[in-house]
Amino acid sequence: MRAYVPFHGPPPRPLAGTTAWNALRAADVGPGSVVVLLGTGGVSILTLQLAKAAGATVIITSSSDEKLARAKALGADHLINYRETPDWDAKVLELTDGLGADLIVETAGAATFARSINAAAPGGTVFAIGFVTGAEATTNLLPIIIKALKVVGNNTGSVSDLCDAARAIGAARIDPVIDTVYSQHQATEAYAHMAAGGRHFGKLAFSLSW
Ligand SMILES: NC(=O)c1ccc[n+]([C@@H]2O[C@H](COP(=O)([O-])OP(=O)(O)OC[C@H]3O[C@@H](n4cnc5c(N)ncnc54)[C@H](OP(=O)(O)O)[C@@H]3O)[C@@H](O)[C@H]2O)c1
Repeated sequence: MRAYVPFHGPPPRPLAGTTAWNALRAADVGPGSVVVLLGTGGVSILTLQLAKAAGATVIITSSSDEKLARAKALGADHLINYRETPDWDAKVLELTDGLGADLIVETAGAATFARSINAAAPGGTVFAIGFVTGAEATTNLLPIIIKALKVVGNNTGSVSDLCDAARAIGAARIDPVIDTVYSQHQATEAYAHMAAGGRHFGKLAFSLSW
């Protein structure tokens, strides 16, 4: 039986949080773990907040220095602009003394998957969830085999996962980063915002009033 942990501040928005929570659990992330996040969208930023609360070191990539500065303000330890440094996987290896990361949250998909495999430490986890750049990737199986990697898929999560994520968000007093809140009647604007790509930082959200 878990202790009840009251929420502080605004109510948590655990949609991306469930996925972020499952990612950290899949790799048993704790103090000293190294976590790599691709881009500064909703899943990456909530994973950043939860990973820092768990004591992990976070390396985050973005196309924008301004967004990287915002990620740093949220606790990110290392920042990589993936436009200026397209071989960001080599930078991850450099930052980790050649070891690689314990967890890579693969939000970007086709364009980054092979580099994520390269950036993973032996025994590390590539949490395959996203396809922002496409869903069909070609990859060399040898690093997966030789490093004994865990490539773990995820489809958001269960109600129980969502409850655990909400409890963790409340306990760590995390205030999720919401870029824009749309009403339920603004779906077209909301999806156009998301489809434009790269304009937002954190979550785009709907406010529902049924
Ligand atoms: N399977 C699941 O359980 C699950 C759950 C939730 C979401 N998803 C999927 O996960 C993906 C991310 O979701 P989201 O809500 O976080 O999306 P989002 O808010 O739209 O964020 C997408 C971010 O991807 C980054 N990006 C684009 N091209 C990139 C590249 N080449 N390398 C690195 N980053 C790149 C951009 O970051 P910058 O602007 O900083 O460059 C962009 O902000 C989506 O495909 C979504 O459908 C899956």
